[in-house]
Amino acid sequence: MKRSFYEKTKSFFINMGKHHRFLRIPAIIGLAVSMLSHRICLYFKTGTKRFACTVFILLCFMVGNSFAYPVFQEENGFISGEEKETEAVAVVDSNIALADERQVEYENMKVLEDEDVVDGYKFHDMENVDKYFLDEILEENADTNVRFSKDAEQANVEPIQAAAVEKPQFDAGDWKLVLINKQHPIPEDYSFSLGMIKTIKGDMECDERIIDDLLLMMQAASEDGVTLAICSPYRDLSYQEYLFNRKVRAYMKKGMSYMEAYSISSQAVTVPGASEHQIGLAVDIISDTYLTLDEGFAETSAGIWLSQHCAEYGFILRYPKGKEAITSIEFEPWHFRYVGKDAAEVIMEEGLCLEEFWDKYL
Ligand code: DAL
Ligand code: ZN
Repeated sequence: MKRSFYEKTKSFFINMGKHHRFLRIPAIIGLAVSMLSHRICLYFKTGTKRFACTVFILLCFMVGNSFAYPVFQEENGFISGEEKETEAVAVVDSNIALADERQVEYENMKVLEDEDVVDGYKFHDMENVDKYFLDEILEENADTNVRFSKDAEQANVEPIQAAAVEKPQFDAGDWKLVLINKQHPIPEDYSFSLGMIKTIKGDMECDERIIDDLLLMMQAASEDGVTLAICSPYRDLSYQEYLFNRKVRAYMKKGMSYMEAYSISSQAVTVPGASEHQIGLAVDIISDTYLTLDEGFAETSAGIWLSQHCAEYGFILRYPKGKEAITSIEFEPWHFRYVGKDAAEVIMEEGLCLEEFWDKYL
């Protein structure tokens, strides 16, 4: 009877062990390997269809997942424009809860500034970002009643000493003091009216109630020889999502996992739905001599002027240095938040962030 390959191999190793004592151990190993391989082959042979199905399902799963990966989408142009953003937003939404639980290690992380260049891709190409200077606003509004007179300024600016004598009381329901951060996203029923400031470059928007003080602050700075420019007033949800997702993708391109990228991005751009820019009470401010959004702005004459005078116009430095662990946002010397003059004076004088102000006064 014709012997199978397995039987031939088996008897080969048995004979080898019988006839050569010194080859007994290699023979036993060879025998064991051939028997094991035979069993494995038999196992696969009897379950071929089952294994083929499993491999097929695994392949489909792997291919499907790689197409859903945001970086893959972008690099291969698999989807484009609006579609790309929508897909990424869906991924962001599903991970918000997880990421919020993650403890952020500020000391060990390098947050990408908005100006950083990642793989040749510039985050905020400030050349193309709208910047609104006072002159451009004045020129556009020459015939209208935009108020810039010294009288108006004096009527609006209360002396700091007066506030110190009479301790103001604060009301948690005051619209100016609303606390918006990752733990306190914008309430669904939050409402406000956008006001428009016309400039020769186009219109910019923010909560209409802060416009007078914002323009007066720019005017006062100008009189002190500091030329301020607003580069990021009101943003709607979709623009906040766009900025956030862009940052997440850039970190992923640097090799981070989605969760790592999400976590570190949220230190520089607030997660969509929790940004003060979305309620028109925050503005990013730079100057004619320093057009980048980075820590260096704090040392410029504009950065120094703003930190010294913003409270007189109701604004605070919202994300101060040293408060990162409380605000969950990196030091942003350019991001100013309107809280009204009483609160602003207390916050800036005591060196608080808004979260601390709430704990202490509300
Ligand atoms: N850059 C600030 C934190 C924001 O996105 O609201
Ligand atoms: Zn900002």
